[in-house]
Amino acid sequence: MLLALWVDDPAQGIRQTAATIIIWVHACIGIYYWLRLKPWFARAMAWLYGLALLFPVLGLLGFVSAGRAVGRLVANDPGFLLDVQIDTNAPTAEQIAFLNSLETQILLGLAALVLLTLLARGVRLTAERRRGIVRIRYPEGRSVSVPPGMSILEASQLNDIPHASVCGGRGRCSTCRVRINGPLDGLPPPDESERKVLRRVGAAPDVRLACQTRPTQDLSVTPLLPPNASPRDGFAKSAAMQGQEQEIAILFADIRGFTTFSEQKLPYDVVFVLNRYFRSMGEAIEQAGGRVDKFIGDGIMALFGVDASAADGANAALRAAQAMSAQLDELNRLLEADLPAPLRIGIGIHVGPAIVGEMGYGPAISVTAIGDTVNTASRLESKTKDFGAQLIVSEQVSDASTLDTSDLRREEIEVRGRREPMSIFVFEDAKSLDGRFGESRAKRAPEPA
Ligand code: FES
Repeated sequence: MLLALWVDDPAQGIRQTAATIIIWVHACIGIYYWLRLKPWFARAMAWLYGLALLFPVLGLLGFVSAGRAVGRLVANDPGFLLDVQIDTNAPTAEQIAFLNSLETQILLGLAALVLLTLLARGVRLTAERRRGIVRIRYPEGRSVSVPPGMSILEASQLNDIPHASVCGGRGRCSTCRVRINGPLDGLPPPDESERKVLRRVGAAPDVRLACQTRPTQDLSVTPLLPPNASPRDGFAKSAAMQGQEQEIAILFADIRGFTTFSEQKLPYDVVFVLNRYFRSMGEAIEQAGGRVDKFIGDGIMALFGVDASAADGANAALRAAQAMSAQLDELNRLLEADLPAPLRIGIGIHVGPAIVGEMGYGPAISVTAIGDTVNTASRLESKTKDFGAQLIVSEQVSDASTLDTSDLRREEIEVRGRREPMSIFVFEDAKSLDGRFGESRAKRAPEPA
């Protein structure tokens, strides 16, 4: 083969190389479309991409190297060519001519098959048009008319209506799913593979895959995902991710006097100190079981108990505050030379109902919480300035958690946005929470049977 492709007919060698690259790229695209819906794919992508590049590069380098070696053999050994022809039972000139004509006939046959496919498609479309039209209505008053038998996704694409379709209409990703507005009786029922995908995402009974649903009557649909949906949208999300009201604990923390510090320092120093601070605090929050929601300037908002109970969340938030205080001491020690004065923080924790879910747009989507509980936690953090304290927790946090506050003074404060005064506990230093965690509330006060 090397003799044929490298020495006898280099043009064939170039065609063969081009064909190999095209087939390899085609295979990679197919494998990518197949695997990109797997949850582990994002993690493995860099490795797979490396393999996909290395394989053809190494293969072609091997081809070039072996081709050049054969070229040298032909040049240096006059008997080599004849030996190879005898050993490989090489075809005669007549046989080669026959093979070439066979190749031409096969290519013509393939071209005829492609033409026939296009022709058959045209005949099908004409027949469908004769059978009448189906009107599909979309939100915002758009409506399109298509022949019966065309899928909803094809109807969207044919009429330039942006519609998510991560798997390209193969019925695997679920990102094309639509809500059918109105009765479902007129629709052919989903087959087993569509049912399986719908089950995977926990779809409601009135939801169908647009790429698999071929309406035969007029209907109205609402696409459920934005046109730029990603493969991860093809998997069921927990209720919390989809948006729901639940009891969680919220922690707000802020650096005291950071504006003055940033005015005295170069931007580089400010960014350096802030990043060290965020890393320390982020680790403390995550190790306690919380989720850093966002960094706002020099402030931090964290959620606790999103995937657990409010009691677990309250306990975790208190432990995080305790760890944050310890981490801050460590940070102040490490950055002693960089700081004009040790960093001080104020932390506020409140527990209560909040709307939790994935919110945002594009890459800025994250799980966050909104509602009165969030505002109250933020206000408690601000109140730490008034009390000259490091931590303020609401009475609700004390009630929900296993924190022992029996020997602590309860303060009453007015909080902006709340009609009733609020009871809080003030801790000069969050590390003083140590030793205050007792048994769970359930253990302390068992319900009578
Ligand atoms: S486009 Fe992927 S399931 Fe419909």
